[in-house]
Amino acid sequence: MAPQSLEKDYPWVTSPVIISAPMSGFAGHDLAHAVYKAGGIGFLGALPDIKALRTALEDVTELVTGNRIPEPNTTLPIGLGALLFAQKLDEVVALVAEFRPTAVWLFAAHGLAGFKLWSDAIRKASSETKIWIQIGSVTGAVNLVQSCNPDVLVLQGADAGGHGGEKGASIISLIPETIQALERLGLDDVSVVAAGGIAHGSSVAAALTLGADGVVMGTSFLAAEETKVHPAYVDAILETEDGGQTTVRAKVFDELAGPNIWPSDFDGRALIAESYRDHVKGISIDDIRKSHAEAKQSSELGFGAHNRRAAIWAGTGVGLVRNKAPAAEIIDEVRQEARTALERIVRGLK
Ligand SMILES: Cc1cc2nc3c(=O)[nH]c(=O)nc-3n(C[C@H](O)[C@H](O)[C@H](O)COP(=O)(O)O)c2cc1C
Repeated sequence: MAPQSLEKDYPWVTSPVIISAPMSGFAGHDLAHAVYKAGGIGFLGALPDIKALRTALEDVTELVTGNRIPEPNTTLPIGLGALLFAQKLDEVVALVAEFRPTAVWLFAAHGLAGFKLWSDAIRKASSETKIWIQIGSVTGAVNLVQSCNPDVLVLQGADAGGHGGEKGASIISLIPETIQALERLGLDDVSVVAAGGIAHGSSVAAALTLGADGVVMGTSFLAAEETKVHPAYVDAILETEDGGQTTVRAKVFDELAGPNIWPSDFDGRALIAESYRDHVKGISIDDIRKSHAEAKQSSELGFGAHNRRAAIWAGTGVGLVRNKAPAAEIIDEVRQEARTALERIVRGLK
């Protein structure tokens, strides 16, 4: 593997490279900026409301440069998430041309052709903007590299919080098999980053050992002070342990507010709570929706412990997320833990 080094394309980063996931509705300008300042790569989450997306880009531009209007011929050192099935290509591309984010992270197209359309259009609009694509299968990764030539592949394991492929493996097999497959085809000029279940530095060390050039964390950053998240949601994250038992991948979470609009091969990992329990009991989706809508009326928006009916997206690493903290502290801590883990291994090998 001869990956393009992330340090070359994102010169402000510190190793190991920590990336905040573009969590739609959660990862706003404050989080993306804080991660950037801490030497990571910060992403804004996708927002189907194009006016809100423009405001988020202006807000983060102001935090980085002191001015809401992008400076000519410069790249914004912040990434932008895109949810392909939910956003209009032309609208997003116009903002990319104007704000020139360092990267656009593509996720959840209805098929391979969607990724090709978006990556070509983004490259045309802003040649400096790197293309990141998140995918959870070896075959999907190879096909995407062949058709779209992304700069970065985000390999998303089944432990990940939020949406992902309904079928999947953990990064422990996904990453090395994908790297082998790409090497066999001479397609190894792509950086690989790991996502899914990483919430401790020893997992960061493991991902690097598997061949990743950096790691993505989503669930861990739900506890960052800069994240836009309801306090009852954070409480649920902080109090939950043993994520393999207390979270589950299911499609019902996407049915709560109305019909599921995600591509059919997607589901999402969230905390096991009342709506999911009702679904398992065989209660009709109409009744589940009714109870969900009532819970959403409460001040805790259905996230509170007494009537937890709204989806609380979280990965299997949720039990490792213990405290609310500034993003910079979260990053420093996992970096320290990763170094300790790697040093321990190297000492043992001597
Ligand atoms: C609350 C939440 C929202 C998410 N929203 C998005 C999104 O809008 N776009 C996207 O590409 N990935 C999204 N993801 C998935 C992340 O990109 C990433 O794969 C995942 O967070 C990694 O696993 P972890 O949560 O165990 O760290 C989301 C994840 C969470 C937890």
